[in-house]
Amino acid sequence: MDTIKTENVKKTYTLGKTLVPALNGIDLTIKQGEFTCVVGPSGSGKTTLLNIIGCLDTPSEGTAILFEKYDVSKLNDSEATKLRRDKIGFIFQTFNLIPVLNVYENIEFPLIIQGVPAGERKKRVNALIEEVGLTEFVKHKPEELSGGQRQRIAVARALVTNPELVLADEPTANLDKENGLNILRMMKELNEHHGVTFVFSTHDQRVIDMAKRIIYLEDGKIVHK
Ligand SMILES: Nc1ncnc2c1ncn2[C@@H]1O[C@H](COP(=O)(O)OP(=O)(O)OP(=O)(O)O)[C@@H](O)[C@H]1O
Ligand SMILES: [Mg+2]
Repeated sequence: MDTIKTENVKKTYTLGKTLVPALNGIDLTIKQGEFTCVVGPSGSGKTTLLNIIGCLDTPSEGTAILFEKYDVSKLNDSEATKLRRDKIGFIFQTFNLIPVLNVYENIEFPLIIQGVPAGERKKRVNALIEEVGLTEFVKHKPEELSGGQRQRIAVARALVTNPELVLADEPTANLDKENGLNILRMMKELNEHHGVTFVFSTHDQRVIDMAKRIIYLEDGKIVHK
């Protein structure tokens, strides 16, 4: 199955009277279960591409189709919200955890939003907590944990809803090299174990080396894939 298929995707932002081209004709197919890294210099369009794939933004031209049936340009707000909630997991550079909730509650949160029954929530949250190695920290609040541990919470939270696709924009940018690599190793294991498609961006060569597929962007174009 094609998780993502884009054809000639262009994105132009308007800044005052200036047009800023961010994506300049992206043709890309990513199949289910791939583990793909988007690489390129600052300003090359990585975040813009991930935002479009994540239904957080729409193309100015061209089409982006998710899961072979959802055209990102044609979704209304509630359809986009529902697609993000049910089929896509996000991992952010700054973790974006809820500070008043503990580890367990942060990971459980998306399931509450989805209306998953309590028994099922408990089963899924505990399984992921174990998979990401946070069993001894379930009661801790994010501020009581290291950057690497916080990102583990975010990875578990992204996966707990059993999404088809996980998107991560520079997930290791705020981690030291060793923790960054550990997070990537864990993402790769989860990709293999759950068969979920991962697309992430990074500047870190050691992280790039771990990707199974690398998409190089330059000036909003794919120069190598
Ligand atoms: N909301 C916006 N309004 C105007 N221009 C924007 C907007 N978002 C991005 N851009 C421009 O689009 C281009 C691509 O930006 P983007 O953030 O996608 O790059 P990036 O590859 O993620 O860079 P970085 O590695 O620094 O995160 C840049 O020229 C940027 O200035
Ligand atoms: Mg970016």
